[in-house]
Amino acid sequence: MRRMIIAGNWKMNGDRDLVRRIAERCSGAGVDGVDLLVCPPFPLLPAMAEQAPAGVALGAQDVSEYASGAYTGEVSTAMLVEAGCRYVLVGHSERRALFGDSNSRVAAKFAAAKGAGLIPVLCVGETLEERDADRTETVVAEQLDAVFDACGADAFREAVIAYEPVWAIGTGRNATPEQAQAVHAFIRKRVADRDAGVADSLPILYGGSMKPDNAETLLSCPDVDGGLIGGASLDPEAFLAIHACARPGG
Ligand code: 13P
Repeated sequence: MRRMIIAGNWKMNGDRDLVRRIAERCSGAGVDGVDLLVCPPFPLLPAMAEQAPAGVALGAQDVSEYASGAYTGEVSTAMLVEAGCRYVLVGHSERRALFGDSNSRVAAKFAAAKGAGLIPVLCVGETLEERDADRTETVVAEQLDAVFDACGADAFREAVIAYEPVWAIGTGRNATPEQAQAVHAFIRKRVADRDAGVADSLPILYGGSMKPDNAETLLSCPDVDGGLIGGASLDPEAFLAIHACARPGG
């Protein structure tokens, strides 16, 4: 049975007070087979590492593909490991759209993360224009294939994928369970074509306007193994309410 992961991506939000409130609220919130993951901005990682109760994993929102050197403003995998991170998001659509992260750069970041023993969470997803042009599967396939090219057939062993349709992010318009399930099944099949065992155990999270009132139906889809939550993860009550909707095994 696949584990479920409920992950919060704070984006460029939050402060030490939110760290404290989330840490407090998550304490004792463990559900068997459902992992909690919190991805605050870089400067809040040490505070979260210090305060997070057992069972709450820490992740970063991005990482450099380079190991060290003259890369002003960048953060390396080794720094994330030292800060207590177990996970790192790579290829979030905001990084792709606003900061020029191409498929090949995202693949290099993914490879660097794995090389450092971090669990990369590869974010994939199509824009509304691409969906309307019936290009969802093509776009997602290209995003996945760049990682296969960089890391080989078992690239997604010890990794996570998050399907985040760009048109659903921060818009209040979530994918329907049918839309999410269809793309999740497509992703799992594409991974299975390279390695069936890896595909079977690969957590595939849904992200895009997941809230307490739509989480239960989305999380009950057979190929949806959790959520990557933006806005609602900034509210401890909402984040934990979504977590309470997750049942291991879908
Ligand atoms: P929202 O939940 O705010 O739509 O954001 C989703 C997201 O981008 C998580 O990475």
